[in-house]
Amino acid sequence: MTAPFKLVRIPTLKTTAALREHVASLGLELGIDDEILTNEQSPLRQGITWGDRTIGNRWAIHPMEGWDGTATGGVTEPMIRRWQRFGESGAKLIWGGEAMAVRPDGRANPRQLIINRENQAGIAQLRETLLNAHREKFGTTDDVVIGFQLTHSGRFCRPHSKVWESRIAYRHPLLDTKFNVQSDDQIFTDDQLRELVDAYIAAAKVAADIGADFVDIKHCHGYLLHEFLGAHTRPGPYGGSFENRTRMVREIVAGIRAAAPGLAIGVRLSAFDFVPFRPDPALSQPAKPGPGMPEDFSKCLPYRYGFGVNQENPLEYDLTETKQFLQLLSDLDIKLVNLSAGSPYYNPHIQRPAAYPPSDGYQPHEDPLISVVRQLKVVAELKAAFPNLLLVGSAYSYLQDYLPNVAQYYVRNGLVDFVGLGRMVLSYPHVLADATTAGKLLEPKLICRTFSDCTTAPRIGLRSGCYPLDPYYKTFEDAAPLKAFKSGATP
Ligand SMILES: Cc1cc2nc3c(=O)[nH]c(=O)nc-3n(C[C@H](O)[C@H](O)[C@H](O)COP(=O)(O)O)c2cc1C
Repeated sequence: MTAPFKLVRIPTLKTTAALREHVASLGLELGIDDEILTNEQSPLRQGITWGDRTIGNRWAIHPMEGWDGTATGGVTEPMIRRWQRFGESGAKLIWGGEAMAVRPDGRANPRQLIINRENQAGIAQLRETLLNAHREKFGTTDDVVIGFQLTHSGRFCRPHSKVWESRIAYRHPLLDTKFNVQSDDQIFTDDQLRELVDAYIAAAKVAADIGADFVDIKHCHGYLLHEFLGAHTRPGPYGGSFENRTRMVREIVAGIRAAAPGLAIGVRLSAFDFVPFRPDPALSQPAKPGPGMPEDFSKCLPYRYGFGVNQENPLEYDLTETKQFLQLLSDLDIKLVNLSAGSPYYNPHIQRPAAYPPSDGYQPHEDPLISVVRQLKVVAELKAAFPNLLLVGSAYSYLQDYLPNVAQYYVRNGLVDFVGLGRMVLSYPHVLADATTAGKLLEPKLICRTFSDCTTAPRIGLRSGCYPLDPYYKTFEDAAPLKAFKSGATP
């Protein structure tokens, strides 16, 4: 059984000194600047060179999907609004926008955006809306770089309904049951993978025609290409050796370079992973999941079912292959890398540390700062090993009021190139624009408190958004069913 744990909430820590003290009490090391520098003095406002372009500042918007497209994966009003707010954030690097499925069957939900010719005009409108909003507020878009995130959801495909229609790289001893994998027929065959490579190339061509600066070949969060990096047990040309497990990315990159020569490529990567977690059954009640605990992996050692995980103790990371992968990206002349960790579906606490769990998650069993610091530390180690890459870091939102203080420290010291904003951007898109503007104070009412409604809503088939803090979602038609679900009614 998990030991009882009492969370010290960030808003109770009134000063940087109090945060520092709390961090030290956890035995962690976290860089925190006391003073936030503004305007041209701000390290977060310095441009950085990417090829022959300058990216105008050091904060990025992470891909944030809303489960809110049309039935054919097209664009809708809430989506346009989200991209407008991405533009208004002031971020000069828009990493991905949101996950875009390269094929209808690869959607993680029936409302995911699909990047194809049919939806090309709509996606172009998203990009235009973002650029116009940015230009209106910040004067120029010459230094804004936008990429589109290309994905196939693999194990997490739900293209038609809430029912999993998982397609996988290999059978997984702990995840198969959870995601409705019952047959080897769900494993992608080598021939099917070659077709999938073509779908990525076709999607990239659409992105190039729209004017995207780059495409992100998504390798994170347990989705298909991330799963391939851990396909140690798969036989044949796409499994086993490191070379085989990275064959997909090499084929996709070669195909995109041939079909869309001007289009740059980036990769979002789960740099490390742990085993799946679940609520401790001994401490759970029907509508109230208990604290997290690892699934029993004792019969799965050595743990050959993941990437960036210590095979002897899969509650620890191992960056050996992560570094090999970054070297491969560098060799492929891919400079933009966005680093994340784990998966929101099976170990959300390491991926998006939160004070309040989503409906399919578990209560914190340890301080979420442990997971924040883990990601920051790994990124710093990888940045030191690959100074030539431009690295975006993740998992900053849990820092809440202190996000700017930590962001500035890590950028100022060259420990990361871009601070990525995920959940925070849904409630407070311009948080870093405000923090780095002389005379401007943060707006505490907009600061993301990691309530996780943005994840709970889609888990029960509703659209994502910041229901607690964004006025648009307070009155959104999905707000009432979400509230009913949270108060215990059946959806
Ligand atoms: C509602 C929601 C949607 C997300 N959509 C995506 C996505 O489309 N692609 C992706 O790579 N990550 C996605 N993420 C993960 C975020 O990009 C980010 O990694 C995560 O929220 C941690 O960063 P944060 O602490 O700033 O929130 C999503 C997260 C949330 C909460």
